[in-house]
Amino acid sequence: MSRAPSSQRLSASHFQRLFGRPPEAAAEAPGRVNLLGEHTDYNEGFVLPTTIPQLTRIELARSGDGHYRYYSANLDQLVTYRDGEEPPPGFARYVYGCIQMLRETGFQVEPCTCRINSDVPIGAGLSSSAALEVAALRGLRALFRLAIDDVAIAKIAQQAEIRYAGVHCGIMDQMAASLGDARHMLFLDTRTLERRLVPFPDGAEAIVLDSGVPRKLSDSAYNLRRRECEEAAQRLGVPALRDIQEAGDAVKALPPPLDRRARHVITEDRRVLEAVRGVSAPEFGELMNASHASLRDDFEVSVPALDVLVGILQAHPWVFGARLTGAGFGGACVALIAQGMGASVKPQVLAAYADLGYRGAVLV
Ligand code: GLA
Repeated sequence: MSRAPSSQRLSASHFQRLFGRPPEAAAEAPGRVNLLGEHTDYNEGFVLPTTIPQLTRIELARSGDGHYRYYSANLDQLVTYRDGEEPPPGFARYVYGCIQMLRETGFQVEPCTCRINSDVPIGAGLSSSAALEVAALRGLRALFRLAIDDVAIAKIAQQAEIRYAGVHCGIMDQMAASLGDARHMLFLDTRTLERRLVPFPDGAEAIVLDSGVPRKLSDSAYNLRRRECEEAAQRLGVPALRDIQEAGDAVKALPPPLDRRARHVITEDRRVLEAVRGVSAPEFGELMNASHASLRDDFEVSVPALDVLVGILQAHPWVFGARLTGAGFGGACVALIAQGMGASVKPQVLAAYADLGYRGAVLV
């Protein structure tokens, strides 16, 4: 007879203790790290994320009494509300947002209870919120037998984030959590949602290090960058910056900082397209280094700690290239390194970072 692993037995019985009944459904979804294509998704451009081993897990059951009850094992916090009420900002708002969006899309969702447990780092730029949204939607799909595919899950998750978490995000994170895998990069055209899984360059693997600097003001700065890009596209007379291929005279004539914002997006799209042509690991690394410089100088979403950590990574002999990953303003860096060398690269880089007064950590 096969037995569930002890952690599953434990959480199922914890669910039972919390809610007085066993879970009826369970689901999970991973965080993601983006290799190339930063701040391009809301410009309808190209991205290249992969998933990370860390997961968000959810167990669910119908509540049967008109109440919604969500428990976060990470926070040891239970949030309860009824139909017509709204939970406070925080983890429960993401689940609530997913349920609201499912209903708006025409699906029947009854009051439910759920227990959430995650090891996706929060605030590091690894999309803990998309992991929660996609895990919740997968769990709700299983619990209520909803006829909804993985692309629709990503779209609903993105809308939940925009409408109920207030971040006017693109669709990269939710598509990565819903359709990505850890052995490939997901090459995604965010305008058409055409996608393809592509292998990592030969002889290379990705590592992710936390700068130790939490993202600050990231939501408001993120929404501002998005507005700047929209204004640049409008002034250039195109639906989105994705429609501009060269940072030529028209882009140079934009008022600052719109000229620099547009140049980042245009060159970043080109870097993704170049990378998926099947470049070598050193060439891919060069594209990552150029991406970081562009995010730092043109898009202005880096902070000193990220520049320091990226600089140490880039100078390491086993590192092909490195950059900040995610929205920026703190959080994590991703590096492409020689396969199998992580065990020596990670501690050496973190020691050099510590010598300069920073405290980083290994995330992947
Ligand atoms: C956040 C957003 C994504 C994307 C990145 C930047 O992760 O959720 O949609 O815009 O920032 O590339």
